Amino acid sequence: MSEHIVNDTDTTEEQPASTTTAGESVEEVDPEWTEYDFEGEAKFTVEDLNVWYGDDHALTDISMEIPENSVTALIGPSGCGKSTFLRCLNRMNDRIKAARVEGSVRLDGDEIYQDGVDLVELRKRVGQVFQSPNPFPKSIRDNIAYGPRKHGDIQTGLLSRLLGGDDQEKEDELVERCLRGAALWEEVSDRLDDNALGLSGGQQQRLCIARALAVDPDVILMDEPASALDPIATSKIEDLVEDLAEDYTVVIVTHNMQQAARISDQTAVFLTGGELVEYGDTDQIFENPRSQRVEDYITGKFG
Ligand SMILES: Nc1ncnc2c1ncn2[C@@H]1O[C@H](COP(=O)(O)OP(=O)(O)O)[C@@H](O)[C@H]1O
Ligand SMILES: [Mg+2]
Repeated sequence: MSEHIVNDTDTTEEQPASTTTAGESVEEVDPEWTEYDFEGEAKFTVEDLNVWYGDDHALTDISMEIPENSVTALIGPSGCGKSTFLRCLNRMNDRIKAARVEGSVRLDGDEIYQDGVDLVELRKRVGQVFQSPNPFPKSIRDNIAYGPRKHGDIQTGLLSRLLGGDDQEKEDELVERCLRGAALWEEVSDRLDDNALGLSGGQQQRLCIARALAVDPDVILMDEPASALDPIATSKIEDLVEDLAEDYTVVIVTHNMQQAARISDQTAVFLTGGELVEYGDTDQIFENPRSQRVEDYITGKFG
């Protein structure tokens, strides 16, 4: 592994166990850099969050508050823990055997890392969209209705018809509302029974967002949702993300700094070693970062 530390002036001081990315200097993080004052309520309050995969320390002492009904961007070089952090917000790391999580994450004030938390309910409230669109190989309609049907919120089909509890109208309304919410309705309203895999990549990703909306979440986590898409499809996703923030709390990982600057209200910069180095208003982070390493990163000196 090539390791290249630029400001390696003080060799007497012990280096952190983690290595730096090529071109990244060494710097002590000032806790003030991650204090972000915002108006309104915090959706998430994260305190002293640490994650290990076996012996690898992937996130180190992360503390931050994420405001509701806004877009929070997570940026930083590959491997700095962005996806790991995102997965902590709805306990998806529970599914990774090697992962060990310590610390506190409160959602609307309630600790999500405590015994007795209903993970199905948590993941309904905190939905997610992945890097590559992953619609089910089913119809557009079925993709959206899948969650509400599974959770028993919608009943359709012969049996429910016979029992007089058919929710077809409710389902139609839900499918339209979610597709409109994901800016896809106009493009697919005449082919709801077509297979979702016949849609373009950008349409598939908006369908996945519509599917996430269908279970009525508060929060939508997105991990590089546009990285597999062409520029036009990307700009549709970006517009959509900004619109979603009127009703939802959006936390989005992106490796595209222009994208973070365009669509987010606040930006958190993670750097090597799984550290949160700076967090604040997006304009401040991009125009006037306090950390030298953050400045080097956003001006493309490393990462
Ligand atoms: N499932 C996993 N098992 C073991 N190590 C992992 C796993 N997922 C991520 N890691 C490690 O944790 C660190 C952070 O990874 P990740 O959160 O994916 O970073 P990012 O999303 O910023 O690229 C990396 O060193 C990565 O190799
Ligand atoms: Mg990632």
